[in-house]
Amino acid sequence: MLSNLKYMQGVKGLKDIDIEGKRVLIRVDFNVPVDSHGNITDDRRIRSALSSINYCIDHNACSITLVTHFGRPKGKYDEKYSLKHIRKRLERLLNRRVEFIEDFEKSKDEIATCSLERVFLLENIRFREGEKQNDEQLSQKLGSICDVYVNDAFGTSHRKHASTYGVADYAQIKVAGFLMMREIEAFSKALENPLSPIALVVGGAKISSKITLLKAVLQKIDKLIIGGAMSNTFLKAMGYDMKESLFETDYIDTANEVIQLARENSVKVYLPVDVVVTDSIERSVDVKVVPSQDVLEGFKAVDIGPATVKLFSEAIELSNTIIWNGPMGIYEIDKFSKGTFKIANAIADCYAYTIVGGGDTADAVDRASEAENFSFISTGGGASLELLEGKILPGFEKLDRKDS
Ligand code: 3PG
Repeated sequence: MLSNLKYMQGVKGLKDIDIEGKRVLIRVDFNVPVDSHGNITDDRRIRSALSSINYCIDHNACSITLVTHFGRPKGKYDEKYSLKHIRKRLERLLNRRVEFIEDFEKSKDEIATCSLERVFLLENIRFREGEKQNDEQLSQKLGSICDVYVNDAFGTSHRKHASTYGVADYAQIKVAGFLMMREIEAFSKALENPLSPIALVVGGAKISSKITLLKAVLQKIDKLIIGGAMSNTFLKAMGYDMKESLFETDYIDTANEVIQLARENSVKVYLPVDVVVTDSIERSVDVKVVPSQDVLEGFKAVDIGPATVKLFSEAIELSNTIIWNGPMGIYEIDKFSKGTFKIANAIADCYAYTIVGGGDTADAVDRASEAENFSFISTGGGASLELLEGKILPGFEKLDRKDS
């Protein structure tokens, strides 16, 4: 049986088809982070989609229609989630005009008019009630405005929605875009033919969100480095009193199971030996570094400590493949960001193949000014996690295959 990665590598891409004179619908993921003023704070997802869009322009597609969601509106128009500002950024990056389509059904004829180099951006597809339900009618309507469907929305490829999944049933030709293929190649390099030793560095808040991942990769890795709030549950499982720290009581047995499984697979597990603690995240006046087993009364762990940074960095330095998903602490707050940034520096300094997944982790790498020094930064959060878990992502499932 094919591995999930091999299966996904087997889908047709843009270069396998002829797009000249065709109406191309590209599902992109422009769900970019914005600040409180609505300014785009990271446009990596938009930049990552440019190669597919430009390819279609250069290969004389009749028209190019881009579909994306942005945020989580409730199936109806909500100004806050309109794509108008995203269109502006896209125009700037593409260096050409992008026509905004509020209602694609009304603009069907316009999209069908063959005029080379016309690029349309549809208003947020999640303003349509049927999108998240993978509604057949909406899928059909989207299919009817294209000859070729290109899925290049890696970040959303774990969703079975009308524009990422259902639409493929109604398009004659359906292929993956360049970003989708780049992501699969990058993860394949880390998981299929990796140079060992292989280290998985995980962090973030919850074991519950990463447990499938941990169980799925334990046979493939040599080192498991655990930080972030999820390490509190492991420390708790070792009998440490984590006081006010965030941990998951229901997952203490699971943490023990992971340790046991790691032992059976000869995987070395690294946990924090010291932690940064505070009595209040908001005020963060009283901040101390303590051994992991000595968290003070009324305090909570919010970052890994300097001895842990040293321990983790040494384990990282001696690895040849490193996969990182999840920050080491509350990196958004300056005082608690050192651990995450130092781990970003340590991974970036390695001669290893280094891959980062997850929106927060990618953001942390950016903030640490290390983005250029990683081999690959995935545009997928949930999607990259499901891929690492060994799943075939729905966004690839219905695409045409090279062998058929
Ligand atoms: C993401 O940001 O992870 C993707 O764009 C998917 O968004 P969603 O979690 O709202 O489906």
